[in-house]
Amino acid sequence: MTFKEEYQKKVEQIEKLLMRYCPEKEGYQSDIMDAMEYNLLAGGKRLRPMLMQEVYHLFGGNEELIEPFMAAMEMIHTYSLVHDDLPAMDNDDYRRGRKTTHLVYGEDMAILTGDALLNYAFETAMTAFDLAPQKSFVIGKALQVLSQKAGIYGMIGGQVVDVKSTGKKITGETLDFIYKLKTAALIEASMVIGAILAEASHEEIKMVEEIAEKIGLAFQIQDDVLDVESTSEVLGKPIHSDEKNEKMTYVTWKGLKEAKTLVEELSKEAVSMLESLHPSDDFLGQLLLSLIHREK
Ligand code: IPE
Ligand code: IPE
Ligand code: MG
Ligand code: MG
Ligand code: MG
Repeated sequence: MTFKEEYQKKVEQIEKLLMRYCPEKEGYQSDIMDAMEYNLLAGGKRLRPMLMQEVYHLFGGNEELIEPFMAAMEMIHTYSLVHDDLPAMDNDDYRRGRKTTHLVYGEDMAILTGDALLNYAFETAMTAFDLAPQKSFVIGKALQVLSQKAGIYGMIGGQVVDVKSTGKKITGETLDFIYKLKTAALIEASMVIGAILAEASHEEIKMVEEIAEKIGLAFQIQDDVLDVESTSEVLGKPIHSDEKNEKMTYVTWKGLKEAKTLVEELSKEAVSMLESLHPSDDFLGQLLLSLIHREK
């Protein structure tokens, strides 16, 4: 199987898992389940659950215990996108090739959809206790990471500084702070949770976190590159959103060429760290390298 075929197969498996974990549309509140599904099953790249699963396998994990965490991670990421697109934030009209939630369901429902996805993520992750009660300690540790990396010391913290910096010239240090939190934090959570649930050692978990930080930074820089170089058809979201919102990005700071070089350097550093940690994993290494030239 080629890398592309293997990647596609894994995406399809994750889609099936997400369908299983989507809440039933029932009760007077069924509109919210409908809006959650509208976003969750819209077809993103599924990078975060995939990274979580790959790291879990890398350290010998092979139980279904990882599945509620994979679904929870994609729910939290999806909520961050629903809120990121709101008129009060980036005010964007398309996401994952569909009209954004606030345009389809209204702004009130879009806020609630984000809230619902965030809360349901934790309801979902906690079903791991029923699947593997004997692993309660590592499940608790994984929940700790999930909540911290999504919160004020993680993704939300990054989004705060991002919106507060809109229209301003900020230092490179502040920009790195934003990227580390708004984007790298959830990628770190994904990979670290995979390692924790597979009962990797403390040192291995630290190393995974460092690798994930580099991948997260590279991922956001490439997102900036695509915002100026891609098309909305390919991306499934509008281009030039950063310019519209007067955001300083790696592209406005360093220029396109240097931004691309940095994506490549950071990704290669991450892969060589991964190889020193675990020499034999082909798919994960290829996945990380494929992100350098990703087109969406
Ligand atoms: C978009 O994330 C938001 C960023 C952190 C740049 P993705 O590019 O992973 O979005 P999907 O999940 O594929 O839609
Ligand atoms: C947002 O960064 C990262 C999130 C936490 C959602 P962007 O605002 O650049 O993400 P896109 O380009 O809208 O996906
Ligand atoms: Mg944003
Ligand atoms: Mg945005
Ligand atoms: Mg962007």
